[in-house]
Amino acid sequence: MTSRILFVCLGNICRSPTAEAVFRRLMPQFPCDSAGTSGWHVGEPPYGPMQKVAAARGIGLSDLRARQVKPEDFDAFDLIVAMDADNVRDLEALRPPGNRTRVRLLAPFAQGAVGDTVPDPYYTRDFDGTLDIIEAAARGLRDSLKNAT
Ligand code: 4NP
Repeated sequence: MTSRILFVCLGNICRSPTAEAVFRRLMPQFPCDSAGTSGWHVGEPPYGPMQKVAAARGIGLSDLRARQVKPEDFDAFDLIVAMDADNVRDLEALRPPGNRTRVRLLAPFAQGAVGDTVPDPYYTRDFDGTLDIIEAAARGLRDSLKNAT
């Protein structure tokens, strides 16, 4: 069974920290973390508007801090879950030779998923809509992990 999951987005201040916190609430026994493909916001807490929308649903993000994904993450995690195709491309460029860790998109795990991408609310400003997708996909991811045991 998959035991360590890394959620990845571009900045690690909107989508992936939210996915980390949402998934941790669903599966507290699963070690998980999040990181960004960029180093733009390293050390920063999640973006204020994202924190606010998450807090309104009882999801606390304030203790999280952004970090950048690194090649060693491919060895430290069993599954890497990305938010969009750009993330996947950037991740594949970091993959150590010979490493076979799975990289998957998050959005398709949602039941009745309509797209492959978790839209970036830093640009769309639709923080609630992104959180809806993350919550639905995190439930789907949980179910797929349970079914894999
Ligand atoms: P995230 O959103 O990848 O979901 O954390 C972004 C946050 C910041 C930037 C881009 C995306 N930025 O350009 O600073």
